[in-house]
Amino acid sequence: MQTMLSGIKPTGRLTLGNYIGAIRQFVEYQDEYEMYIFIANLHAITVAQDPKELKQNTKDLIALYLASGLDPEKVTLFLQSDVHQHAELGWILTCHSYMGELQRMTQYKDKTAKGETGITAGLFTYPCLMAADILMYDADYVPVGVDQKQHVELTRDIAERFNNRYGETFRIPQPLTPKIGAKIYSLQNPTKKMSKSEENPKGTIDLLDDPGVARKKIMSAVTDSLSTIQYDPDTQPGVSNLLMIHSSLSGESLESLVSRFQGKGYGDLKKETGGIVFDFLSDLQSRYRDIIASGKIDEILREGNEKASRIAERKLRKVKKKLGFQILK
Ligand code: AMP
Ligand code: TRP
Repeated sequence: MQTMLSGIKPTGRLTLGNYIGAIRQFVEYQDEYEMYIFIANLHAITVAQDPKELKQNTKDLIALYLASGLDPEKVTLFLQSDVHQHAELGWILTCHSYMGELQRMTQYKDKTAKGETGITAGLFTYPCLMAADILMYDADYVPVGVDQKQHVELTRDIAERFNNRYGETFRIPQPLTPKIGAKIYSLQNPTKKMSKSEENPKGTIDLLDDPGVARKKIMSAVTDSLSTIQYDPDTQPGVSNLLMIHSSLSGESLESLVSRFQGKGYGDLKKETGGIVFDFLSDLQSRYRDIIASGKIDEILREGNEKASRIAERKLRKVKKKLGFQILK
């Protein structure tokens, strides 16, 4: 069985973009692959976090993973910080990455270009830690949204470099982006990604938003004045985004939606999409509440941590041997 791995940072509340672009894929693939899914809390602290909020977001994230359908019997679910080998391998790979490569990473480049101050060294080197997360478990595939593809490509380069230098050590991973919904856009600014950090709350649907509020956000989504329903992200980004959200959650193809909405108005599309989002969030949140109430999260994490640690330790030992760290037989 091939291996698949992915992680999400527990920063801010999860959005519909996270669900459609990432979590949904994890659930779809869990039967076909050996899956590792983790909470990337070491990555979260690349920007300042309030410990109380971080704790709450972490719990919510795990509960939402489970509520979305991840089955702990099939998936190894763990906290990154519980498996200390990640930080160790992260350092080793930092020493096998170049400044130039890291300077090209969009996240760092954008923040620098905007003139942001207080950029931590961790934010700069974090793609090396991400490479460690992936290479530790010999992942064949890494399902991510398009914005993370670049990091998986860097991971491939680092892995190839390491293998060439020390002999076969790491499997070369491939990014896997969803065909539909790889990027969900802000409802208020449909050329920008729907993001946890967006300032205008009307642009973003949180997975824990009141379903009625979420429906209102869809109803007030920005569209255009062309008055025709087509899937064309360049000329009609707002309408295309709504079609994408509808299609991702309802399973109806974009073609079928477009033909069904011929001659209808934007209000019709919004009403139907709003209803689908309402039902989706209501079901998800009811499962989320059951999971929190069940008190099972601790046990699930403990088991995930044990399994991940075992595999990580084996890999790290191999790496240390290759590097010449091991002097005793
Ligand atoms: P982040 O919220 O940046 O930690 O991202 C967690 C995962 O969700 C990554 O795989 C992202 O690519 C994905 N993701 C985040 N926002 C979106 C979005 N608006 N559309 C699609 N995927 C997204
Ligand atoms: N960097 C990813 C993000 O910001 C989260 C992440 C950390 C991740 N390690 C990973 C994703 C390994 C996939 C594989 O969303």
